[in-house]
Amino acid sequence: MPGFALDVQSTLAGRAALLRDACERALAYLDGVADRPVAPGEQAVDGLAELGFPLPERGLGGTQALRLLDELGSPATVASNGPRYFGFVTGGALPAAQAAAWLSAGWDQNAALSVMSPVAARCRDVAIGWIAELLGLPPGTSGAFVTGATMANATCLAAARDAMLTRCGWDAASQGLIGAPAVTVVVGAEVHTTLRKALGIIGLGRDRAVVLPADSQGRIDARDLPEITAPAIVCLQAGNVNTGASDPFGPLVEWAAKRQAWVHVDGAFGLWAAASPTTRAQVAFVEQADSWATDCHKWLNTTYDCGLALVSDLGTLRRSMEATASYLPGSEAEAMGLSPESSQRARGVEVWAVLASLGRDGVAELVDRCRRLARRFADGMQAAGFDVLNDVVLNQVLVSFGSQQRTDSVIAAVQDEGTCWCGPTTWHGHRAMRMSVSGWSTTEDDIDRSIAAVRACALQST
Ligand SMILES: Cc1ncc(COP(=O)(O)O)c(C=O)c1O
Repeated sequence: MPGFALDVQSTLAGRAALLRDACERALAYLDGVADRPVAPGEQAVDGLAELGFPLPERGLGGTQALRLLDELGSPATVASNGPRYFGFVTGGALPAAQAAAWLSAGWDQNAALSVMSPVAARCRDVAIGWIAELLGLPPGTSGAFVTGATMANATCLAAARDAMLTRCGWDAASQGLIGAPAVTVVVGAEVHTTLRKALGIIGLGRDRAVVLPADSQGRIDARDLPEITAPAIVCLQAGNVNTGASDPFGPLVEWAAKRQAWVHVDGAFGLWAAASPTTRAQVAFVEQADSWATDCHKWLNTTYDCGLALVSDLGTLRRSMEATASYLPGSEAEAMGLSPESSQRARGVEVWAVLASLGRDGVAELVDRCRRLARRFADGMQAAGFDVLNDVVLNQVLVSFGSQQRTDSVIAAVQDEGTCWCGPTTWHGHRAMRMSVSGWSTTEDDIDRSIAAVRACALQST
């Protein structure tokens, strides 16, 4: 309807119809997500070209824009919100998460300051407190929601950098790093690439860290740890992205503490092992670190984007992230005073809803179920004669089908066949199919169907 888009009266009158239309379309999409091929077909992806028409002089109006988005866009999505998507580390959105996100989109709150949104501020505080408790982190642990674990790593490491340099009498937040004492950074050999990226972003360099050797599962080898000079930041990992294994935090934290080093843990998904009695031992002593980066959009199954930067001493984060101006209220306890972003989505609303709806038992069950299903998949692969390359301790499975060429061709066939989706990786020189069970809706039947599909693809690939 030409001209409709800027006609406020008609737009207000049509709002309910438009939002109901969006809701109906989203529900129809969700109803089909378990049964469609996981990856979109070529035709659907090619069809996206039609979205690139010249910017119209007169707007199409919301109804028409939504129709085009659904008709052209929905078929070209990846069904990562469905039960048989095992790529990267990807949780599907729980119904409670999606529902809260829809309500919250209606509210359209800016969560930067509590004066802008009391509800966003309250949900954030409560949700972060619940998560710290759920993960067994020390009393007083708090932090900020950010876009994801990459940004959570950068946020925590900025606080670590500033705190360590403050001890040397250097105010990095105000003076920067030029002329500052050198900060020793320690990482494991299997550090996630985004932690290196975070180190680069905050000026500590992607490639200047001391690298500690790791074992066959990617865990830092805690024997023969080197001498390091202060000020130092030691970066550990809960949940290797390939194997799911976690560093031995006990001896590593003890070693770091003797050197007055800040200990940071990248626990994008693996930190959630602490939420279940079954897996808690895998991350024993993780609570003794100074900061933790994790995601809610992975294993907690919220919508994107939702990461969390946590520190045991909130003052350190506050000092690095503070923002003051005469028109702003004091920001010490505010989202914008604790995170790199100012304006931000009210991520805590959805996290609050997920935690309130699942409870402690529900989160533990989510972790346990994904772990059991990963084991079931690994058993199915082994029964079919394929090599599982990792100890399946959490939710990650690595499968080799022989040579690199054969493994790659099986993965391509699996992605093409569409029952499930798994990606490739290379683990200690061996090409592997990488599978991550992170979604709430995956069932045993989904795993069995996926095993059957992978077996059939492998039989056809020579
Ligand atoms: C260990 C680890 N750290 C960081 C990340 C990056 O997370 P995000 O994509 O949320 O930034 C991932 C992603 O898989 C990860 O597994």
